[in-house]
Amino acid sequence: MTTPIRWGILGTGGIARQLARALGELDDAQLYAVASRSADSAVAFAREFGAATHYGSYAALLTDPRVDAVYIATPHAQHHAALMMCLAAGKPVLCEKPFTLNLREAAEAVALAREKRVFVMEAMWMRFNPAVAEAQAMVARGEIGRLHGLQADFGFHQPFDPAHRAFDPALGGGALLDVGIYPLALAQLFLGPIAELSAFAELGQTGVDEQTGFTLRHAGGGIASGFCSLRASTPMEATLFGEAGSIRLHSPFYNCARLTLARHGQPPHTVDLPYQGNGYRYEVEEVNRCLRAGLAESPRMPLADTLASMAALDAIRAMIGVRYPGE
Ligand SMILES: NC(=O)c1ccc[n+]([C@@H]2O[C@H](COP(=O)([O-])OP(=O)(O)OC[C@H]3O[C@@H](n4cnc5c(N)ncnc54)[C@H](OP(=O)(O)O)[C@@H]3O)[C@@H](O)[C@H]2O)c1
Repeated sequence: MTTPIRWGILGTGGIARQLARALGELDDAQLYAVASRSADSAVAFAREFGAATHYGSYAALLTDPRVDAVYIATPHAQHHAALMMCLAAGKPVLCEKPFTLNLREAAEAVALAREKRVFVMEAMWMRFNPAVAEAQAMVARGEIGRLHGLQADFGFHQPFDPAHRAFDPALGGGALLDVGIYPLALAQLFLGPIAELSAFAELGQTGVDEQTGFTLRHAGGGIASGFCSLRASTPMEATLFGEAGSIRLHSPFYNCARLTLARHGQPPHTVDLPYQGNGYRYEVEEVNRCLRAGLAESPRMPLADTLASMAALDAIRAMIGVRYPGE
């Protein structure tokens, strides 16, 4: 029996709570510590989720030698500083998406991780979803023939509030970085590197994109189209188009449990995949597996893919005219 990996969480917001629940489901992981900018929030979170210890600053958690892995659950604009602190302290990291605000910040963090040989992975949980993995296997088995295209959308109505991180430029607001990253990452996963792209957006009162549409032409062939919105509720589905048919990832495509394979000339075939908990356990299992194997990065979510995703986000933002403070 091995000792569970002891996790520390930075931040006590919405996603931190989801990950804390996922840690509670796993035998090989323990929510060991939580850190907040506020000592009271850290205490309340530790009590609610059963963390062994708590800290009133992120830096303090990083001095705890018992923390084996850190999960960064702060707003996008705060990821870079947290990443640099974790990596400088030699702590393996799982960092929420988008990895950083822009490619420059991401490249700095990746360089430090490589210099220090410390594990780091973007928390693109969609990659570890069993249905997404099954869709990859179906494509690899040639069930829809050669893949030529993909379409995906992620939109919901977020009531306007200039102080909410979704709208605040200082926190990296906007639909693209918050949810547009999912259709983008799905396209990069299935169709590979992007050769060129185009994008349109509607910006809101705070100057961030409240909805964005983009089209990607992939270097190895294939065209993808993505739509994201903080204004409209969309089906949140994704479809892969191949020569012999299509695969639909049912809603919500980034965390789904059902696929429909529609081969040309045959009745559609729906497959239900085994799915446990809230869906966040799969990325934790991957980090645990990598740490136990002594890997410095995940082969399923390589840093090169994170950098490619950040480069595409930068390119789309340049087209739609969204800049963040300090850029
Ligand atoms: N994978 C997913 O499904 C998913 C879902 C939602 C969000 N996310 C990602 O997770 C990150 C956090 O999102 P969230 O929805 O959890 O946000 P949130 O509810 O606003 O929580 C963010 C937390 O970060 C900490 N923080 C540090 N600096 C801050 C600052 N300047 N302003 C506000 N909070 C600050 C706060 O914790 P303390 O006060 O305790 O320090 C806060 O509770 C984002 O990057 C987002 O993209 C991912």
